[in-house]
Amino acid sequence: MALERTFSIIKPDAVAKNVIGAIYNRFESAGLRIVASKMVHMSKEQAEGFYAEHKERPFFGALVDFMTSGPVMVQVLEGENAVVKNREIMGATNPAEAAAGTLRADYAVSIDENAVHGSDAPESAAREIAYFFSEEEICPRTR
Ligand code: PPS
Repeated sequence: MALERTFSIIKPDAVAKNVIGAIYNRFESAGLRIVASKMVHMSKEQAEGFYAEHKERPFFGALVDFMTSGPVMVQVLEGENAVVKNREIMGATNPAEAAAGTLRADYAVSIDENAVHGSDAPESAAREIAYFFSEEEICPRTR
């Protein structure tokens, strides 16, 4: 199967818990490679743009406030079936429904502060990757 890329965010709650390395370990253990990565403290405009598709939803303001409350790690993950694999590693959006052993079961406390974001389809992955990274910042493995 061809390699696929997905976009991931370690959200402010998980960065504050000091579990960036633990989460990276989960990605790598599942066969996903981190091919781009940086820490960003998003502006309000940046977060509103990223979540624009949700702007009519009642939690939009709270989501933007949360995502701008501290730094996040943004990364591009590459591997076979990366979009679906990352969603499996993350677990359900609501941590109360997340399967045991998933990132949200282990590190999230509520649906408002749920530790990680991951693209839901290859098309959204391409858009989200381009929102944060230029092609020159992405470093696929050469060996
Ligand atoms: S998903 O993951 O896109 O399928 O889930 P969805 O329900 O569409 O939620 C979209 C994003 O909004 C976040 N969310 C919330 N934030 C605050 N309060 C409430 N109640 C809430 N419900 C959902 C959810 O975590 C999704 O953010 P991302 O960054 O995509 O995970």
